[in-house]
Amino acid sequence: MRCLLPPVFVLVPALLRAAPPALPGKIIFQQNCGRCHGANGRLGLNGAHDLTKSTLNAFGRTYLVTNGLGKMPTFKTKLTAAQIQQVVAYSLTLK
Ligand code: HEC
Repeated sequence: MRCLLPPVFVLVPALLRAAPPALPGKIIFQQNCGRCHGANGRLGLNGAHDLTKSTLNAFGRTYLVTNGLGKMPTFKTKLTAAQIQQVVAYSLTLK
């Protein structure tokens, strides 16, 4: 019986120390989009458009990220549909 409690005391502090989850869309953006669009969406490298000024809605952005356009590469082979959805949602928060 005396062996039942200690594991709980070991586990709880470990859970409390866990870092808060980072926004998945933000990480995907930094890793895949930042080199052209910049962390804040405004960099405009390689002819990229300023995302803070984009009027494209989620549907249009999803299509563009999935299929690419001009110098913007397609991401359908690099990201899953769920990841594209997350990165598009994050891009819409850039103002
Ligand atoms: C290799 C550089 C490059 C990378 C990487 C890149 N883009 Fe782009 N992006 C562009 C270019 C160039 C355009 C302009 C395309 C055009 O209209 O010809 C563009 C346009 C866009 C637009 C449309 C803006 C508007 O309203 O005109 C969105 C939204 C966008 N990118 C999102 C993303 C997202 C999200 C990612 C990451 C998953 C990403 N881009 C990665 C180069 C890039």
